[in-house]
Amino acid sequence: MNTFIENLPKAELHLHIEGSFEPELMFKIAKRNNIKIPYASVEEIEEAYKFDCLQDFLDIYYQGASVLINEQDFYDLTYSYLEKCAAQNVRHTEIMFDPQTHTERGVSFKTVINGISKACEDAKVTLGVSSLLIMSYLRHLSEEDAFKTLEESLPFKDKITAIGLDSSEKGNPPSKFKNVFEASIKAGYIPLAHAGEEGDADYVWEAIDILGIKRIDHGNNSLQDEELINEIIKRDLALTVCPLSNTALQVVDDLKNHPLKKMMDLGLKVTVNSDDPAYFGGQVNKNYIDIQSALNLTQKELYELAKNSFQYSLLDPKSKELYILELDNFYSKYAK
Ligand code: ADE
Ligand code: ZN
Repeated sequence: MNTFIENLPKAELHLHIEGSFEPELMFKIAKRNNIKIPYASVEEIEEAYKFDCLQDFLDIYYQGASVLINEQDFYDLTYSYLEKCAAQNVRHTEIMFDPQTHTERGVSFKTVINGISKACEDAKVTLGVSSLLIMSYLRHLSEEDAFKTLEESLPFKDKITAIGLDSSEKGNPPSKFKNVFEASIKAGYIPLAHAGEEGDADYVWEAIDILGIKRIDHGNNSLQDEELINEIIKRDLALTVCPLSNTALQVVDDLKNHPLKKMMDLGLKVTVNSDDPAYFGGQVNKNYIDIQSALNLTQKELYELAKNSFQYSLLDPKSKELYILELDNFYSKYAK
């Protein structure tokens, strides 16, 4: 089964580039930039990665990102993630980045976007992995701050496909960002948002009704509300589910109790993703492997998850069709 998963063509739709920052690369870049980090070794870093909740993780995640200063740093971070994609048969990825984490520290929007997008362009040629970018607003900051980020992004609009909403969910409901989402949609960005990770079902309602999102990041707590489940199915919105993130942040106590299969059985369109792989103990294939063994998923169900990852990506219809054809060829050849 693990070989089947490893070779399965797939897309990753929920990945924070700052969350792909492996300790080894963090040390290397910190040294290059003459920045001290509060850990003496990779082992010490890994010891610190034990979280009680989302906020606990975010504090460490923002600290890690603070060693990124130059365009080359963003390039190296992104290219390193894309190499992992190629090694895992991730054929396409939709990468979130948090501009405010960097602009707040005096790093320009241009430095961030150019480093990330150049790595994506190179990886398309050298590794054969396609990618799109999702600019995420930090929800613990103000809507005014998000508007500033929207303005800064406009000269680079051709490099960005969608906007997202991430960071501390509780106390920062989607409605706080109604106006900036409206303006972002007018500017041509596709709206997405984290909802129902720690927040309740009413946050998911707000995200779909007030922000008009086209895909739900996490969405676990949608299961609290039957009417909401039916509405998500009716609107054909996919959920980008992140199993190892959910156990690392104690959204779910044990993978055996993860709602992924229940979601699928209810008719929700689910995808499997890594969220912040450097912090949560596994890349996307480990998420597939661990959730398969915890829930006893069949090859057919794994195929469905991979198919959803292409079908509910932000790619154009022709590209989706080609990737799904590749997946179908694989499946008809290797499924038992
Ligand atoms: N930023 C990075 N990972 C996140 C997550 N799982 N939830 C909210 N914001 C995030
Ligand atoms: Zn996330």
